[in-house]
Amino acid sequence: MRMSTALEADFNAQITLELESAVVYRQLAIEMDMRDLRGMATWLRRQAEEENRHAEKFIDHLTDRGNHAVIGTIPSPSVSVSSVLECFETARAHEERVSTAIRSLYRQSEATDDLDSRPLLTWFLTEQLEEEAKVDEIVGRVGMIAGDGPGLLRLDAEMSARSTGSADTDAR
Ligand code: FEO
Repeated sequence: MRMSTALEADFNAQITLELESAVVYRQLAIEMDMRDLRGMATWLRRQAEEENRHAEKFIDHLTDRGNHAVIGTIPSPSVSVSSVLECFETARAHEERVSTAIRSLYRQSEATDDLDSRPLLTWFLTEQLEEEAKVDEIVGRVGMIAGDGPGLLRLDAEMSARSTGSADTDAR
């Protein structure tokens, strides 16, 4: 069933935020690549791809329901990264912002009694828990390593193993 125009606008804002997330992660990947941390750069690029898939999920949901998905203005990623720790702290702060937006979208869907979007939004609530947890772990590990070059290279090698994003078999 078609969703209300007001909720459609909120979904469109979320689509734009997911695409903004992809751009932020892509920029962070560049920052790590410039420090020759190829594994971290790969991890961040994979995350950028995952954010694009998130946007696609929302777009598919709108189009499946006969609503109009419209991509808004995506700001330039104004990330200022002076260290590896700052890179992943930036990623964590961004994920926290996305989680807040998803919770708000969920509340909006409840307020408008839009049952059809509930499975998708529940999936995203869980996804955000995972995303925050994994970035938080990286921040913790980078913090432990501090200025230890060999430790950083070991973590970099470990992170290069990431193939794609998380399992993508789910509600939309
Ligand atoms: Fe799509 Fe990382 O939030």
